[in-house]
Amino acid sequence: MVEVPDFDALYRSDPDPWQVGSSFYEQRKLGVVLACLTRSVYPLAWDPACGTGELAAGLAGRCDLVLATDASPEAVQLTATRCADLAVTVAPLRQPSAPRWPPGVAGPGRLALAVVAEFAYYLPAADRSQFWVLLDAIAAPEGEIAVVHWRHQPHDGFLSGADVNAEAVGWLTEAGWSAAVRHDDRDFVLDVLIRATT
Ligand SMILES: C[S@@+](CC[C@H](N)C(=O)[O-])C[C@H]1O[C@@H](n2cnc3c(N)ncnc32)[C@H](O)[C@@H]1O
Repeated sequence: MVEVPDFDALYRSDPDPWQVGSSFYEQRKLGVVLACLTRSVYPLAWDPACGTGELAAGLAGRCDLVLATDASPEAVQLTATRCADLAVTVAPLRQPSAPRWPPGVAGPGRLALAVVAEFAYYLPAADRSQFWVLLDAIAAPEGEIAVVHWRHQPHDGFLSGADVNAEAVGWLTEAGWSAAVRHDDRDFVLDVLIRATT
């Protein structure tokens, strides 16, 4: 049986448990993610599991406003500190439970960009399905969704990153999205989807 980690305890014992701020692998991955986003500027982006805030800080250079949320209050605090001088709004929010809207996204069709990084494999299947539905609902008509995961299966996750990305692409393609970028790295996979144009 999968036991999802106690993320708060992890962040309390180490403020950067995955070395996101210090490892070359993580910094390079962030660079790849930013390079693969298809537009130069986005009005509004959402990082739904912001962790230590490195991605949110990177997105802030390309977005008028970044909404950074996480289920862990410890992560929210770390991101708030990391992004203190940036156009980043930080708040606690567990996916996919209510309230389903991230702060600042008051209704459907407003979100220009969502970047799902290294967390959907911690959601059980039913929650993942709800999460893909939510992303589709809140994304703008010209919206973009990037999904990036470690290719392998975390011992405390429900499935591998490769399978999470395949599921996201399959689900979103069915919902009318199309692949803009597919990046296959040795240890991570990245898919960028845009709404299919007719
Ligand atoms: C491996 S960390 C990744 C953090 C960040 N996205 C990154 O790439 O560095 C996973 C994060 O997902 C968050 N998380 C796990 N389940 C969540 C959920 N149901 N809703 C929101 N955040 C969640 C955890 O608190 C943790 O910060």
